[in-house]
Amino acid sequence: MRALELHDYRRGVFAETGSHLDRVANLALRFAEQVAPELAADPLVAYGFRLHDIGMIGVSTLTAVKQGPLTHAELDEIREHPWLGERIVATVPPLNGVARHVIGGHHEKWDGSGYPRGLRGEDIPLVARIFALADAFDVMTNDQPYRQALPIDLAVTEIDAKAGSHFDPMLARIFLRMLGELSVGATDATTTETRIAPADETAAGERAARV
Ligand SMILES: [Fe+2]
Repeated sequence: MRALELHDYRRGVFAETGSHLDRVANLALRFAEQVAPELAADPLVAYGFRLHDIGMIGVSTLTAVKQGPLTHAELDEIREHPWLGERIVATVPPLNGVARHVIGGHHEKWDGSGYPRGLRGEDIPLVARIFALADAFDVMTNDQPYRQALPIDLAVTEIDAKAGSHFDPMLARIFLRMLGELSVGATDATTTETRIAPADETAAGERAARV
């Protein structure tokens, strides 16, 4: 993996700094174009990407922006948001398909440890597996109410470490390669391997719970 710089990623994805929804939808669409062009061509997929956290409307603001560790009750509250999001879009027929798959599946994990259903492997809709990578990367590399942005290389390392557990391993490889290709501005071609210490597991778990 080439050394990645934040400005390379932002320039490659959408040229300007924007909201999480702008960034993650554009990154996820770009990724989908590579791995599932038929999905990327469906305009309802983009709606799903932009609405992925619509269920957070049911999470209290205090919990959603809380700094520091969450209590079990607060985690349970946050883990309701995919369910709630599904119920919201189920009432809108055009969204009650692939967009719903994104909303309901973006916190599922390849090894079955995700939520809300604990789906495993390819039982998780492809569009949700695609989106989960873009979402995790964008959340990790931007400031959140509960922590500062991680360096790009640390986010890359974390996704690499979680390929096959949190993330579809084949998709993760392609995603990281795509990020490398976006870093066209990286100048030192000899630094093709940027390995740093793995992220702290507690911090990673906290991030996973909030993403
Ligand atoms: Fe979410």
